[in-house]
Amino acid sequence: MRFGITAKLFVTIVATSVLIAIAVGAAARFNFSRGFLGYLNDQGVERMEGLLPALAAAYHEHGNWEFIRDNPRAWFHLLRPAAPESTSDPSSGTRPLVFPNSDLTGFGLRLALLDEQHRWVVGNTEVDNDALHRAVVVDGRAVGWLALIPIQHVTGAADLRFQQQQLTATWVIIGLAVLLAAGVAILLAHTMLSPIKRLAAATHQLAGGDYANRVEITSSDEIGSLAEDFNRLAHALDRNERMRRGFMADISHELRTPLAVLRAELEALEDGVRPLNADAVHGLQLGVETLNKLVDDLYELSLSDAGALTYRMGPVDLGALLQEMLRRFEERYAEKRILIDAAIPTPAPVVRGDHGRLRQLLSNLLENSARHTAEGGRLRISCHSQDGIAQIDFQDSTPGVPEALLPRLFERFYRVNDARTRDRSGAGLGLAICRNITEAHGGTIDARPSPLGGLWISLRLPLEAPT
Ligand SMILES: Nc1ncnc2c1ncn2[C@@H]1O[C@H](COP(=O)(O)OP(=O)(O)OP(=O)(O)O)[C@@H](O)[C@H]1O
Ligand SMILES: [Mg+2]
Repeated sequence: MRFGITAKLFVTIVATSVLIAIAVGAAARFNFSRGFLGYLNDQGVERMEGLLPALAAAYHEHGNWEFIRDNPRAWFHLLRPAAPESTSDPSSGTRPLVFPNSDLTGFGLRLALLDEQHRWVVGNTEVDNDALHRAVVVDGRAVGWLALIPIQHVTGAADLRFQQQQLTATWVIIGLAVLLAAGVAILLAHTMLSPIKRLAAATHQLAGGDYANRVEITSSDEIGSLAEDFNRLAHALDRNERMRRGFMADISHELRTPLAVLRAELEALEDGVRPLNADAVHGLQLGVETLNKLVDDLYELSLSDAGALTYRMGPVDLGALLQEMLRRFEERYAEKRILIDAAIPTPAPVVRGDHGRLRQLLSNLLENSARHTAEGGRLRISCHSQDGIAQIDFQDSTPGVPEALLPRLFERFYRVNDARTRDRSGAGLGLAICRNITEAHGGTIDARPSPLGGLWISLRLPLEAPT
């Protein structure tokens, strides 16, 4: 049988309350018997001290204790407490008989008078060393001792009655504790456990693949932050799942188009609509190349996506790398009569990066400028470093990209829908790969309108730390 958290809470609270009730009961009993006896004895001492002046006066009058020796009548007469001034009767000359309010403790019977040498004179004969002593002082000399036998224990009947009362009280407290524990457990279950239960249910649904579920945040404590983290996790999973689906749809769509073109061309050849000549073969080859590039780019994208783990970092001289890439693209730019105006300082900034990946990044940017810039245009490249960051700017001439579309350029498969820039071989993955590579280097990349009329790409990479 499995117990829920509410049942466990209930049992814990009941057990704790019962233990506390028993402990408090035992402590009260112990304290009461000790404290009560102490109180009675203290009271006795106080009354004893009240008798001392009368004893001293009597001794002073008689000069010794012989007048009282073995004379209980005179002894009890002396012990009688003095009447208050207002009620005394001065005409009679005798002290009125006034009894103490109550004397269940047998105070008078427990008293004895001892002489100077502690020998018994009158009163209780059983005084011993345990008795409480107070000196009767006359002219600065202790002429005798008043002794009081202390109360050692409460009488049996009272003791038993007290014990019974204690037991009843303990049972009542235990009963109340059970009721209270049930109340507290239900309240706790309601206020604290219900958000946990909601979280548990939501996690169960999340594990089952329902990423749209969110939990309500009702507090700012640990449970609240747990709920917040849960929502964040669910949101991330939801977004990733949606991106994955979108990505798969994009890939199949991108593959379908060149495949459809290829199939149409092959069918035309098969049906004899088009003659099988060098031109036709060239067209087919172009289609295959497009597909090849797409598959290669997807592969590169997945590699650059995998994170910095696949990167081998080291110092990379941006000047040397840029020169190498410009040499490679020289012919391509010459074909389109695009002028390259590169201002690269010497020494050039050295960044910390993966040489191969940075080459791919620059290659994608130069390829874009070559492909998406009109013939006879210009490309201006500048490079500088500041505050530990190297910045390379690529500014080209028309055509540009409408400002509203600029932030979308770095999305996968995003191409600007413009007849002038449409190119059969571009899948819209180049800048997405560039952003992945840049971010894996801890850098940033953004696009804005170029002063030359085209696109301005700014690339910022952290410099290699000087050793
Ligand atoms: N230098 C540029 N000048 C004008 N438009 C550009 C420039 N670079 C990119 N673009 C626009 O941004 C879009 C996205 O660029 P991206 O490099 O991601 O894809 P692509 O060049 O179309 O294809 P791919 O690089 O995958 O072959 C391009 O389709 C183009 O419209
Ligand atoms: Mg491109």
